[in-house]
Amino acid sequence: MKVLTFDSAAEIGRVAGEMFVQTVLQKSNAVLGLATGATPLPTYDYMVKAYESGKVSFKNVSTFNLDEYCDLPKAHKNSYFTFMNENLFSKIDLNPDNVHFLDGNAADAEAESARYAAEIEAAGGIDVQFLGIGRNGHIAFNEPSDRFTNDAYKVHLTESTIEANSIYFDDVPMPRYAMTMGVGSVMRARKIVLVATGKSKAQAVLSMIKGDIDPHCPASILKAHPDCTVLLDTDAAALL
Ligand code: F6R
Repeated sequence: MKVLTFDSAAEIGRVAGEMFVQTVLQKSNAVLGLATGATPLPTYDYMVKAYESGKVSFKNVSTFNLDEYCDLPKAHKNSYFTFMNENLFSKIDLNPDNVHFLDGNAADAEAESARYAAEIEAAGGIDVQFLGIGRNGHIAFNEPSDRFTNDAYKVHLTESTIEANSIYFDDVPMPRYAMTMGVGSVMRARKIVLVATGKSKAQAVLSMIKGDIDPHCPASILKAHPDCTVLLDTDAAALL
C-alpha cells in the first residue's frame, strides 16, 4: 500500500484524476470502478476538465459503480445513478451502454450479484477501482462485520453510515439497505486508488493503515492488494 499525503482535497483531485486520465490514455477501452459520495467530486471535476480540454476521450471506457441504494427509484435525485450522471457521466463522452450499475430494486439479490460479476468479467475485469472510506472503515458499502465478503450482495447499512449519508435525503427517509460490490470484487481490480479527506476519516485511516487486516475495518484488507495507492489530506492523515 502506497500512502501519499497532500495539503488539500483539490490537490488530491488533480492527482487521482490524472491517474484515471493516464489509465484511459494508455488503454482507451479501460474499465473503471467508480465511487460516489463527497470525496470523489474533485477527481470527477478534474476528469471533466481533461475531457473538455480535449486531453482525453472516454468514449470506449466502461464503468462499474460500487453500490446503489435499495428501495429508491433509479431516477430519484439521491440515487447513485443520478449522482454519477450529474457529476460525471453527462459531462463527458462516455457511452451510456458502457455504464454499469447494481440494481438496488432487483427482486433477487443473488441473481443480481451474479449478473454484475458476469458483466465485470465480460468487460475484462476492472483496471482501476476508485474508493472512498466510511468513518467506520467501510469500503463500498461493506460495513464492519465478522467476515470479509466476496461478490455483490444486499447489505443492511449501519447507523454510522445512515447518520453520515442521511444529510442528503430531504424528501424521503434514507434507505436502510443497499446493493454493494463485495470486498472480493473490489480486491480483484488490477489497481486501487482510495481517497480520504477530512478529520472525520482520521480514525478509519489509522485502522486501515496501522491496524491488523480485520473485517471489523473492511478497508484494512487493502494492505493485501499488490497495487493500492491511498491519497490523504493532512486532516485524514492526522492520527498516523
Ligand atoms: C460510495 C461508497 C462509500 C463512500 C464512503 C465515503 O460509492 O461506496 O464507501 O466512498 O461512504 O463517502 P464520502 O466520500 O461521502 O465521505
